Amino acid sequence: MIAEPDLHPIVRIAPAKVNLTLAIGPRRPDGYHELHSVMVPIGLADRLSVSRGHGAEDSLHVTGEDGPPRPDDLVLRGIAAARAAARRSVGPGAELGPLAARLEKRIPIAAGLAGGSSDAAAALEAALEAWGVTLAGHDRIAAAASVGSDVPFFLAHGPALVEGRGEQVTPLRGLRGEPAGILVVTPRLHVSTAAAFARLDEDPDAAPADRASSRVSSSHLADELRAGLRADDLVLRAGVLSTANDLVNATATLVPELRRVRRGLARLLGRPVGQSGSGPTLWALYPSATDAEAAASALAVAQAEGRLEAPGDGPAQIIATTIGGGRDG
Ligand code: C5P
Repeated sequence: MIAEPDLHPIVRIAPAKVNLTLAIGPRRPDGYHELHSVMVPIGLADRLSVSRGHGAEDSLHVTGEDGPPRPDDLVLRGIAAARAAARRSVGPGAELGPLAARLEKRIPIAAGLAGGSSDAAAALEAALEAWGVTLAGHDRIAAAASVGSDVPFFLAHGPALVEGRGEQVTPLRGLRGEPAGILVVTPRLHVSTAAAFARLDEDPDAAPADRASSRVSSSHLADELRAGLRADDLVLRAGVLSTANDLVNATATLVPELRRVRRGLARLLGRPVGQSGSGPTLWALYPSATDAEAAASALAVAQAEGRLEAPGDGPAQIIATTIGGGRDG
């Protein structure tokens, strides 16, 4: 039974994520890699609304998309995964009618920000709510993981330690005080996540400088976030965190321009610059949103004046926001 969603669509904010650390273990027999990653949602978000569909199938309308159309839409996959899991949970007779989803896209796509995965998690949760179905925690996570490795993180709705293939998510709710600011810079370069992981396995030049140290940094940060960390303290750790991503060299062998952009950015900002996931998004941490906004304005001027290299299909997207969500970026 779908309760009145025509009048009251279910609205979900689907935030982007940033990997503050990404330590990667060996390739597993299933082809995936063991991860140890501290992931945080940020204030930059898509907006999804879901209501009763009028056709025979689920539908999706997207606004605000920039870049090429996505070949494999994760909102519809999130709804399909929710339906399959709901059917297993409540039996074949359950009425799990078609849904109409509308997505306002703001998160740059294929950027290392997991926007599509966040949309899928939001769609999964909204679909269950529309049908009035509650799943056991492990069934929700399994449904999310069936869509993609980054999807289960978004069910935690906050900073989390992500392990396994991505399905082991431990909430870390220890960011205290004023939200930390974050500057997110997305050069218009394409990086395939699967190709970056494959490089890591196959190309000695793509090996991380020191895998053991990424893992130690990742564990330290998880412990500190568990205990409680203020924005200033997080910013003090940015130098260590910026070197704690095991995909940086792999990405650089695929897209050498990204290394130059990263160095140029660190020089212009005068602070450490990290990479989110397989990139191309780069980040810098600030004590507050106001500081990040000031840096974004200065960087936009530098880019317009040609002081920041802009390889690929145009100028980099520069976004100032906060860590931990809350603000609709
Ligand atoms: O799960 P998802 O399809 O989002 O993952 C994209 C690609 O990233 C996978 O095909 C795999 O090559 C790589 N990956 C991995 N280990 C993980 C997560 C992703 O090797 N834990």
